Parts: sequence; structure tokens; C-alpha cells
Amino acid sequence: MIIAIDGPAAAGKGTLSRKIAETYGFHHLDTGLTYRATAKALLDAGLPLDSEAVAEDMARRVELAGLNRDVLSAHEIGEAASQIATMPAVRRALVEAQRRFAQKKPGTVLDGRDIGTVVCPEAPVKLFVTANAEVRARRRFDEIRAKGQAADFDQIFDDVKRRDERDMGRADSPLKPAADAHLLDTSEMSIEAAFQSAKSIIDAVLKKI
Ligand code: DC
Repeated sequence: MIIAIDGPAAAGKGTLSRKIAETYGFHHLDTGLTYRATAKALLDAGLPLDSEAVAEDMARRVELAGLNRDVLSAHEIGEAASQIATMPAVRRALVEAQRRFAQKKPGTVLDGRDIGTVVCPEAPVKLFVTANAEVRARRRFDEIRAKGQAADFDQIFDDVKRRDERDMGRADSPLKPAADAHLLDTSEMSIEAAFQSAKSIIDAVLKKI
């Protein structure tokens, strides 16, 4: 049983995916972390971000176990991740590892940008989680402020829009809903309401298999 959850940055996919995985006792993989871990390893080693062969080699060494958003959340890492995520060889390497993870028993939740379209097109449940760019920027802003860190709303808003453009505009596996995905717009929805809505979609599928 695979649950595929896609959507743009800061739409609430992460929280929703973790809650779903916990509820059903499934393994969870935030695939954005695989791109981030590859980017961080390149940055740490002082290697160039514009060589597809070098980045692919690093992508093949990424260990999926123990990836941690806290150590991969830095802005530069997100930017570098979005850059190497445009490289087909990097995507092939990470998608292979993600597909292996998806087969874990009793089930898995994978979240990212291309899970329902490319990584696991056979997933019986596909959710596409969105919210308008301003709401997403506001959520990210509040999150940073809640940690007691300084944040500039306009900069975050610009960032969110730029990241969207790059994720939706790339040639290989652009961010878009699968034809059979359920759309969940959380602009005016609490995370609890989004979860309830996702849960009824998942339960309806589970009842049939
Ligand atoms: O969700 P995130 O911010 O951690 O993702 C970091 C970058 O990785 C983002 O710019 C897009 C890319 N990404 C991707 O191309 N495909 C995925 N399945 C997940 C993330």
C-alpha cells in the first residue's frame, strides 16, 4: 500500500504525511530530504553544483535511513537542492532509492513533487496538497518566528514563488498533479481538517482492497 503526496513547498505536505504515516503505521519518506542531503553533501565537500556527473555520484551515496529535516532545513541547502533536482541523472538515482523504500511493508507514505506522476504512478492513493503562495509564505514565516529566529516576509514570499517556478518549470518531472490525484487546497483549512479529508479518501480506498 503506497500513499503518494505531492505539492509545492510549504503547503503542509510534511505535517500531513507524518500524521497519515503515524495513523496507519506506515513508513514515511520525505523525498525532498533526499535532494537536500545530496545538495548538502556537495556543499560540505566543496564540490560544484553544476556538474551532473558529480551530483549523480553523490546522489547514489545518499542513505535514506536517518535523513533529518532539522539539519537539512537551511536556505542555501534548499536552493542547492532545487538546482540539482533539475538534473535527470540525479533524479534517476534518487528515484531508484525512493522506489525501493516505497515497497516496505505494511505500507508507505512518500511525499514530494513527482511521487504520483513518476516515482509511484501505481500508488492507489494520490493526494495533491496545495495552498496559495501567500498563505504558504505566511506559514513558513510563522514557523521561523516561532523558533525565535528573524524572518523577512517579503523575502520568504519571493522565495516561495521562485521555488514554485523552478519546480513547475523544469523539463524533467515538473511539479504537477497526477491525472488521478485528489486535490486538497489547504489555503483556508486547518491541518486537522486537511487530515480528516485525506483520511476519508484513504479509508475509502482501503475498504476496497
Ligand atoms: O520539499 P523540499 O523543499 O525539501 O524540496 C527541496 C527541493 O527538492 C525542491 O526545490 C524540489 C526538489 N524535490 C523534487 O524535485 N522532487 C521531489 N520528489 C522532492 C523534492
